[in-house]
Amino acid sequence: MFGDKGTTIGRCLAWCCVFLTYHVVSEAPAADVNDVLVFTVASNETDGFQRYLRSVEVYRFRDNLRILGLGEPWKGGNVVNYAGGGYKINLLKKALEEYRNDEKKIILFTDSYDVIFLGGLSAIVERFLDTDARVLFSAEAYCWPDKSLATHYPAVSRGKRYLNSGGFIGYASDVYEILDKALIKDEDDDQLFYTTVYLQDELRMRHKIKLDHKSEIFQNLFGAVADVELRFKGEEAYLQNIVYNTVPLILHGNGHSKLVLNSLGNYLARAWTPNEGCLACWEQTIELNKTKPGMYPVILIAIFIEHPTPFLEEFFQAIYRQAYPKSRLHLFIHNTVPYHESVVYDFFERTSQEYLSAKQILPSDGISEVDARKLALEHCLLKECSGYLSIDAVAHLDNEHMLKLLVEQQRGIVAPLLIRPYKAWSNFWGAITDDGFYARSFDYMEIIKNERRTILSFPSQYKLQ
Ligand SMILES: *[C@@H]1O[C@H](CO)[C@@H](O)[C@H](O)[C@H]1NC(C)=O
Ligand SMILES: *[C@@H]1O[C@H](CO)[C@@H](O)[C@H](O)[C@H]1NC(C)=O
Repeated sequence: MFGDKGTTIGRCLAWCCVFLTYHVVSEAPAADVNDVLVFTVASNETDGFQRYLRSVEVYRFRDNLRILGLGEPWKGGNVVNYAGGGYKINLLKKALEEYRNDEKKIILFTDSYDVIFLGGLSAIVERFLDTDARVLFSAEAYCWPDKSLATHYPAVSRGKRYLNSGGFIGYASDVYEILDKALIKDEDDDQLFYTTVYLQDELRMRHKIKLDHKSEIFQNLFGAVADVELRFKGEEAYLQNIVYNTVPLILHGNGHSKLVLNSLGNYLARAWTPNEGCLACWEQTIELNKTKPGMYPVILIAIFIEHPTPFLEEFFQAIYRQAYPKSRLHLFIHNTVPYHESVVYDFFERTSQEYLSAKQILPSDGISEVDARKLALEHCLLKECSGYLSIDAVAHLDNEHMLKLLVEQQRGIVAPLLIRPYKAWSNFWGAITDDGFYARSFDYMEIIKNERRTILSFPSQYKLQ
């Protein structure tokens, strides 16, 4: 997590990071439960959406999935901090029109950016049938967005009491009738809409609406992070709810639980196994073929010499030795140290013609470090680079395949993990407390000791604002 170790992280990001584009996942074979329809809403194919889709493919029901609103502007208001999401209801209602009289068809609705499936459709449907509900909503610990409704809820002896609309399953005819009860504006709140229906005794009875109080199917994480534990059974990670002794099948990082979701998402849905390590890390990677240098993405290497630095010649040798075709590399060098001018000059004279292009900023140009870092990125964009490698002269590239390997990973951003030898200190945060302080994640020590490698993903909609 990028917290108040920000300066260190900033530096580490600055000295080594690569920006790349993503590839598309291929489709999985047909699903088990053919008749069930799974609906979700997504305007953008965010990293969170990709993670959702990946889990759908892992459990093999891509053919059942209907994605609503993709590529269209989001009309449901700012749901990060305020109520909203009526748009989801209106999209779903339209999609369900053709099934409005179908009393047998089961439909499952979930959000997508912050949802991961932990099991297949047949298991989900089986548990739904066990509840004897016609419509089953997920449940959470907070009554939101209207706290005053809390007292209107039926009492529960055990389990989470309040409705969460991020996940529900039910019969098409009942769900449609519920959606059709009233008109809702796109920017009104969907959870309030469903809550209002649920709190009317007559409607609750007629449609047999129930809540999944004990997370038999749906696990909402907000306010329930301490309820769950990541466990392994053989090669597969699963989520155990230790309060209700259930193993939920759909995980929802609602409210302020996105970081915990990201952390769990590194393991769940067969993303990581004890023997094979990070399986998801190999998905969507590419292999660059040495015999086809023209296929290598064009990268700009930005080099920053901001302080007098020992072993600068060796540093440049390591840059030169990178096993990446120089015809696919732009160079950008910022040097503020007059003492180093001759070394930089020599390197530039001897090698710059081999690169696609080379540009250097001299100490006499008087350009500050901050401006130089901005300039380097602008230069990268100007050259229409597909990736950007930023490296400070204090860092040495020991592995000549580093750049090739990083590009083959096809990640949006890759930054190094820095540790202090024999200390638990590192630049990586595995978890964060609700009030923004450092917290040690369950996998922190294993990650910094390099015994466990995960994706460490930061889905794009949660990047720092
Ligand atoms: C989707 O992406 C576009 C362009 O990046 C942005 O304007 C829009 O707000 C995004 N929508 C959501 C729901 O994040
Ligand atoms: C690289 O390309 C050559 C020529 O097309 C091909 O013979 C070889 O198998 C390729 N190597 C890999 C690792 O794909």
